[in-house]
Amino acid sequence: ATRRHLSSSSTRMAVNNMTVFGGGLMGAGIAQVASQHGIKVTLCDLTDQALATSKTMIQKSLSRIANKKHPDSKDEQQAFISGVLDNVTFSTDPQASVKDVDLVVEAIVENIKVKKELFHMLDGECDAKTIFASNTSSLSISEIASATTPARRAKFGGLHFFNPVPQMKLVEVIRTEETSDETFQTLLDVCKRMQKRAVSCKDTPGFIVNRLLVPYMFEAVRMLEREDATAEDIDAAMKLGAGYPMGPFELLDFVGLDTAQHIMDGWRLKVESGEEKSLSSDLVAPSGLLSQKVKEGKLGRKSGEGFYKYN
Ligand code: NAI
Repeated sequence: ATRRHLSSSSTRMAVNNMTVFGGGLMGAGIAQVASQHGIKVTLCDLTDQALATSKTMIQKSLSRIANKKHPDSKDEQQAFISGVLDNVTFSTDPQASVKDVDLVVEAIVENIKVKKELFHMLDGECDAKTIFASNTSSLSISEIASATTPARRAKFGGLHFFNPVPQMKLVEVIRTEETSDETFQTLLDVCKRMQKRAVSCKDTPGFIVNRLLVPYMFEAVRMLEREDATAEDIDAAMKLGAGYPMGPFELLDFVGLDTAQHIMDGWRLKVESGEEKSLSSDLVAPSGLLSQKVKEGKLGRKSGEGFYKYN
């Protein structure tokens, strides 16, 4: 019994290499930080063009870090940047990318069908030891994992990073009903290795951060719709009165109005179908003002205008 206890609580796998699917904003950041901490990384995307963009993003981020790390030496800056980049292999071949890999982290488009197809294919390609993780913000980890065999589902969890990955300290580690202790421990260890603070949460809508932040941002928009206060005053109030680094409208512009709306739309569908009981229908009600802005292409910082204008 003692041995069993020991093996279930202390067994974990050392992750020495990982493959990241999706070289966008999140995937490039995850690949970079893993490589910075000595994990060998393969970054897989659909096209060479996408991968070239990923590489540029990583290079830019590393240059900023290198400038701070070695302010007086261009040589040391360059050595740091190439050291990290040498650890990353860029690939458009998904099958070849997952040979012998310890961990797969998926950060492709937020589409349940596409994610399930990818994991179903990978399940057939990967060793039995390979752990699978999704970086999804709004989809159910169990539902994505259902595209794989039961043995793999024990090795499936969520690793939810935050944007920008190199700067944001937090990772939410999600365990489903089927995630094994060993898998969960391994995911926590990977976060530690990447020098992130891991928090764990069950597989629930929005996990911890978005479950609290998205309704808060929507509530701010509802205040504005009722003309209770202006966006500027609501932001100033939350910064100066609650100590938040950004007000809700600044945060919406940063996150992307479309992204916030997409998360809320997903929740509403689950509430309406009776699948989700932890959210109320008032909480997930659409916002006319937010929908209007998204329709007009005012998506926030990335489009140059959201609740504020940017140049
Ligand atoms: P993005 O649109 O910047 O990047 C997605 C990348 O995946 C693109 O380069 C695309 O070419 C690639 N891709 C699509 N299908 C693929 C496939 N089958 N195989 C390989 N690559 C494929 O998206 P972003 O923002 O990086 O988000 C990725 C994931 O991370 C989504 O699930 C999103 O919900 C989640 N997330 C996003 C955050 C954010 O702030 N943007 C924060 C935390 C999680």
